[in-house]
Amino acid sequence: MRILTGIQPSGRLHLGNYLGAMRQCVELQKKADDCFYFIADYHALTTVSDPQALRDSIHGVALDFLSAGLDPEKVVFFRQSDVPEVQELSWLLSIVTPMARLELAHSYKDKLAHGKEATHALFTYPVLMAADILLYQSDLVPVGKDQKQHLEITRDLAAKFNQKFGEVFKMPDGYIPDSVATVPGTDGQKMSKSYGNTIPLAGTPKEIKKAIMGIVTDSAPVEAKKDPETNNVYKIYKLLATPEQAAEMAERFRAGGYGYGDAKKELLRVYEEVLAPFRERRAHFEAHPDEVRDILASGAAKARVEARRTLGAARRAVGLD
Ligand code: ADP
Ligand code: TRP
Repeated sequence: MRILTGIQPSGRLHLGNYLGAMRQCVELQKKADDCFYFIADYHALTTVSDPQALRDSIHGVALDFLSAGLDPEKVVFFRQSDVPEVQELSWLLSIVTPMARLELAHSYKDKLAHGKEATHALFTYPVLMAADILLYQSDLVPVGKDQKQHLEITRDLAAKFNQKFGEVFKMPDGYIPDSVATVPGTDGQKMSKSYGNTIPLAGTPKEIKKAIMGIVTDSAPVEAKKDPETNNVYKIYKLLATPEQAAEMAERFRAGGYGYGDAKKELLRVYEEVLAPFRERRAHFEAHPDEVRDILASGAAKARVEARRTLGAARRAVGLD
């Protein structure tokens, strides 16, 4: 079974990305025969227009994934744009893509509603994503809930292409783990880079401390008994700590005499402890950018072999042989 997923390099990764996505990807590498994980840099161009910011983000995401424990021996880890065959496949898929299907895509409508310009790239984003998935004959695609519709579009395009031109693509399944909790941000909303409420994964100790100490709480005095389930510090703590540690903090809040300041210090301690292996590996990769480059180059070379095979079959199917 082949698992494939893409990660957009559009900013610094945060605790929500780590607990909500990266950790699962790293776990899945142990179970799958084959994992293809890539940095979706072509897609990021729809939102990032500063070339240096894009370069920094690509490098940052590569470092973060490798530091999260991704094993380059087991996972084909590469940059989307290092396999330009995906663009040609995107074109071949676009011939079976109804305009209406793209016009109704939530993420497109959502981006326009947020004031983004209606560019062609934004509009055809799902076709390129379908090409990513189908090019590598993927079986299972782990994604967040917001990507569900893009997977449905992918399946539709695969079915249409296969029906019209013969069986070229494997039908992929989405995998949307519901067990993954939404990580709240420092203001209690979903943690997201768009809300400025993140705890950065690879921040300096000072930045991380500032983010954790800045978690919004109510103004209940230290001595008051507090409901742990309604406070942001506990909600984040619970996701990082062991069940025993979480139960202990909950008990302290309920008993009263335990302030938010103390809880934040405890959260900071656990954050540092849980992320210590990540930070150690990151320091290693930061000091060895050549290793990162080699891993990505070798991933792209492996991905390209597969990409050429599928693209060749698709070209023959439509009559471009
Ligand atoms: P952001 O909201 O910061 O823009 P993305 O939409 O780029 O994050 O998310 C990348 C991945 O991380 C997705 O799979 C998404 O489901 C996951 N993710 C992002 N934020 C959270 C969160 N607060 N809780 C759980 N998972 C998250
Ligand atoms: N659109 C995805 C996101 O924003 C990233 C992505 C691009 C992707 N191509 C993909 C995810 C292929 C899974 C498979 O999260």
